[in-house]
Amino acid sequence: MTENKPGKVTMEKLVSLCQRRGFIFPSSDIYGGLSACWDYGPVGVELKRNIKEAWWRANVQERDDMVGLDTSILMNPKVWEASGHVTQFSDPLVECKSCHQRWRADDLTENKCPACGGELTDPQQFNLMFKTFMGPVEEAANTVYLRPETAQGIFVNFQNALNTSRKRLPFGVAQIGKAFRNEITTGNFIFRSREFEQMEIEFFVKPGSDDKWFDYWVEERLNWYVKLGIRKDNIQLREHGEDELAHYSRKCFDIEYNFPMGWAELEGVANRGDFDLKQHMEYSGKGITCLDEETKEHIVPYVIEPSAGVDRSVLAVLCDAYDEEIVNDELRVLFHFHTDLAPIKVAILPLSRKENLSAVAKEVYADLRPCFVTQYDDTQAIGRRYRRQDELGTPYCVTVDFQSLEDKMATIRERDTMNQIRVPIAALRDTLSAKLGGEDLFVLPEGGQIWKEEKKEV
Ligand code: GAP
Repeated sequence: MTENKPGKVTMEKLVSLCQRRGFIFPSSDIYGGLSACWDYGPVGVELKRNIKEAWWRANVQERDDMVGLDTSILMNPKVWEASGHVTQFSDPLVECKSCHQRWRADDLTENKCPACGGELTDPQQFNLMFKTFMGPVEEAANTVYLRPETAQGIFVNFQNALNTSRKRLPFGVAQIGKAFRNEITTGNFIFRSREFEQMEIEFFVKPGSDDKWFDYWVEERLNWYVKLGIRKDNIQLREHGEDELAHYSRKCFDIEYNFPMGWAELEGVANRGDFDLKQHMEYSGKGITCLDEETKEHIVPYVIEPSAGVDRSVLAVLCDAYDEEIVNDELRVLFHFHTDLAPIKVAILPLSRKENLSAVAKEVYADLRPCFVTQYDDTQAIGRRYRRQDELGTPYCVTVDFQSLEDKMATIRERDTMNQIRVPIAALRDTLSAKLGGEDLFVLPEGGQIWKEEKKEV
């Protein structure tokens, strides 16, 4: 037995694996990185796209009561005055009088510097919005902000979205996009960064029906994570206390995930009432209303906001899917990604680089590539290639061996069980499509064979 022992996921293991396998790198790595900014690598970008696509499909394309938007990051600065972000989107900042490190006062349990024990300054409110200048003159009048939430792009487009989509209450508007916050304390990998992505829904409802819709969205959003493979016992709800509520919020529940550093917010579902639309009416002087079909009166709707972080979803999916086990005395590390989320769906692994075998394997590759994200790998011993695909979370590997030249069959190996079946090459595309859609591995196509059932490798 090796000394390797299967263990739990830790942030250190995850950061190292993500960097080694091309999921996530520190931003501007060759210059020593940039604090709390991250780059998604070749596999990470696929995982992230799959999460966003799953969210968009479930919340926009498969619903009658939702439309999408993609609004700009830079907005008229009056937006942020109206929304309250200029005056209220701040955290209490304290500075150590000895080492000059800065801390969020509400993160500290004691009134001394956690780094050196030094005395702290009195707290000052620090606004989290990044500022820049619009145009060539750097003066206060040209100040614009990088948006700290995507939500405001939806509120200021409420009338545009309503008029052009001809939706009626209740209906929602969804958006995925970048947001920026000059966080005082960052960390825990991609959990809290200064540039991140949000997936936000503003769901507009008739006042009075808001409690019902709030409950609906909490349930809906919890189920979405579970459907994508997150274990139920790793998710919980936590209601915000009065003192925690954002300035716009009447009620808020966090959907929390059990990250390696403990339970922390994955998504917030808030009842924002009519705060935002009313503020924008006042500051813009424009009417922002819609028709109440029952009373035939124009009303300002209430809004329920499920607001999820893309990067936190990526982190939760990585943590939840990470696994270690001992196979043939060796540690096997793998990601059990849901097939919809797996960055690579199928890997084609010819047993040798011999020309006649490569020719068949490349034909298989060319046939499958238009249907699934497929990777071709003929670099090392087959066992090591399987391990590499396990660490990438690839659900199926297709092995082409010398027997394939005779019987025109190939082997499909399943990531989670390491079970294998042998199927006609002509049936590979349909078979993989069915397996990726959730069909059991041992439902065989015509001419298929059960190859191996034990937890052993070829
Ligand atoms: N529009 C409401 C809003 O922005 P929030 O709770 O401040 O609410 C929503 O943010 C989600 O955005 C969070 O649940 C989290 O997933 C993500 N998020 C917020 N700040 C983040 C940060 N600094 N880094 C990564 N994700 C963040």
